[in-house]
Amino acid sequence: VSDDTAPVTLRERSLDAVADHIQAGGAKNVLVMTGAGISTAAGIPDFRSKDTGLYANLARLNLPYAEAVFDIGYFRDHPEPFYILAQELYPGKFYPTISHVFIALLAAKGLLFHLFTQNIDTLERRAGVPGDKIVEAHGSFATQRCIDCKTPYPDDKMHEHVLAGNVPRCEECNGLVKPDIVFFGEALPDEFREKAHYAAAADLVLIMGTSLSVHPFAGLPGMIREGVPRVLFNMERVGGLGARSDDVLELGDCDAGIRKLADKLGWRDELESKWREL
Ligand code: APR
Repeated sequence: VSDDTAPVTLRERSLDAVADHIQAGGAKNVLVMTGAGISTAAGIPDFRSKDTGLYANLARLNLPYAEAVFDIGYFRDHPEPFYILAQELYPGKFYPTISHVFIALLAAKGLLFHLFTQNIDTLERRAGVPGDKIVEAHGSFATQRCIDCKTPYPDDKMHEHVLAGNVPRCEECNGLVKPDIVFFGEALPDEFREKAHYAAAADLVLIMGTSLSVHPFAGLPGMIREGVPRVLFNMERVGGLGARSDDVLELGDCDAGIRKLADKLGWRDELESKWREL
């Protein structure tokens, strides 16, 4: 049921109308929310896609259930499965996609209010999105520390251990070392709680490549004011998007949807060359 009483910003539910909204200066505070779906084109599997998702391909780790690999309780007793996965996912060998670069282009044009990402691959940062505009809601591989005494662990030693597939131990108390990724059972970074209210200040929202299945991140779209267009770039419809009069569903490959929007904005050449220059 769509809520027809809300003020309507877009003339129609289309990328053309979104592009007009941006060109008319109606979107100066664009909020972007991303998930693993924008990194699949970079070669990093997402979590829940039927055959290709990470959770469908962890059988070799003999986990009690797929998400255990990111569960803090399970990690304490069995850190090996996570470190087998970390060896495959560790940043450095992957490359930002067109979708990552589009977010950096929004920032370069002074239109990006903030990016909330669930991804731990740091590809948005690598694409050129300014660090002070990114909230990594589920942490990232960028830093690591002991899960017992919290002592930070040296980056170079971490790289060595992860690439060798070893489990790093704290040099102070011999506790397990874990990257600052938010595991199930851990609190999200304070920055997420402090900035989640930014959702209410956005005048356009782009939601890209996420199943919106993990809270509290999945609660962000519901915090967007009525009348603010929410555009979903995703293979499948998720999170109740489409229920509001100003929701736009661009279902399919996110890079293709983003290229379509870039074409309508006249930003396509700039986008492609920015991507090639990375
Ligand atoms: N283009 C568009 N959509 C895509 C593409 C693509 N190329 N590839 C995948 N998708 C979509 C999938 O259809 C799915 O809806 O992206 C979504 C990815 O969903 P998930 O795999 O659940 O990833 P995400 O939403 O980021 O997971 C959230 O769950 O496991 C935890 O902490 C982990 O941050 C992660 C959180």
